[in-house]
Amino acid sequence: LGGEDRRQGEKTFARWLEVETWRRPEISDMSSIMMAVESACKTLSALVKRAQTDDLAGMYHGGDSGGVNIQGEAQKKLDVVSNRIMVAQLCSPGGLSCVASEEEEYPQMCSTVVGHSAFTGEYAAVFDPLDGSANIGAGLPCGTIFGILKRPPGGKVGPRTVMQSGKRLLAAGYCLYGGQTNLVLTLGNGVQQFTLDPKRGEFVLTQPNMRIPIRGSLYSANEANSHAWDGRIQDYVNDLKTGRGPSGQQYQSRYNGALIADIHNILHYGGIFLYPADNKNPNGKLRLLYEGNPIGMIVEQAGGAASTGFQRILDVPPLNTHHRIPTFFGSPEDVYDLCAYLKRPL
Ligand code: AHG
Ligand code: MN
Ligand code: MN
Ligand code: MN
Repeated sequence: LGGEDRRQGEKTFARWLEVETWRRPEISDMSSIMMAVESACKTLSALVKRAQTDDLAGMYHGGDSGGVNIQGEAQKKLDVVSNRIMVAQLCSPGGLSCVASEEEEYPQMCSTVVGHSAFTGEYAAVFDPLDGSANIGAGLPCGTIFGILKRPPGGKVGPRTVMQSGKRLLAAGYCLYGGQTNLVLTLGNGVQQFTLDPKRGEFVLTQPNMRIPIRGSLYSANEANSHAWDGRIQDYVNDLKTGRGPSGQQYQSRYNGALIADIHNILHYGGIFLYPADNKNPNGKLRLLYEGNPIGMIVEQAGGAASTGFQRILDVPPLNTHHRIPTFFGSPEDVYDLCAYLKRPL
């Protein structure tokens, strides 16, 4: 179906970006990068949706690749393929100069990876090409997380460009491949949700200026690890379950095992996502550069909070490209309460 199918007032991603970059000329040079991100999300969405049926053709994308990434995790084939797609599309001409990925040991210069020698861009990207890839085999939600940084004033873009704290991100977002494909994005001025219209292959603005509820009644955590959490976090979650917490409400539990799916749920309905430190993951599990910072920016831009329990995530200086941190994201009142429990004596 063509343009005649469009509802009156409907905005495609391209149209929204055109108006937004015209209205805010200071971000106009990120326009081609954002179009490359959108294009990568479409490619990855199609790939994820084909993962099971491609298996019939002997290309089981959900299967293990046999490799192990720098995080020490077994890589799925789809982790490897998604990473290649992200690198190739974001390094396309007019795109970025440098990319750093959860799946790669070191940040890579686009000039080396795709052989373009004429890159003069000032931007670098950090990404988790496939978040929640363990969900692939069963056809459950997974996503792509990304953030965009600029070279520091006076400096040149290079591998160290990605070693900035999250408050320096200029754009961040994620693409969630679930029942629908949703691209949720901030360019530092609020959060927009675009949904892929499968009939036309176009992202359409479905939730302008998303705001997270001030408080929710959902919590998301892998409670199998709760015996190894700080006792004050155990108390907090127990109080949510029994309604003895600060809000007096009894909370419900939701956990997808894909950060992106859990965060998307919390953004819409409110509540808190927790991935604390535990004995298997003494610094928490999630990665500051590829997960903590982009999600932190999105959640803050929607009016929420993102904390390590003791510090704003976006203020944490990265010590290395695979730095892990404990993460608490969500409605401001809920994250505040969790941080207040952590101020109690042990
Ligand atoms: P990834 O698939 O990119 O490695 O990320 C997995 C992360 C995150 O998506 C999720 O919140 C968390 O790991 C789940 O961990 P547990 O299996 O320990 O609950
Ligand atoms: Mn992984
Ligand atoms: Mn991830
Ligand atoms: Mn991943």
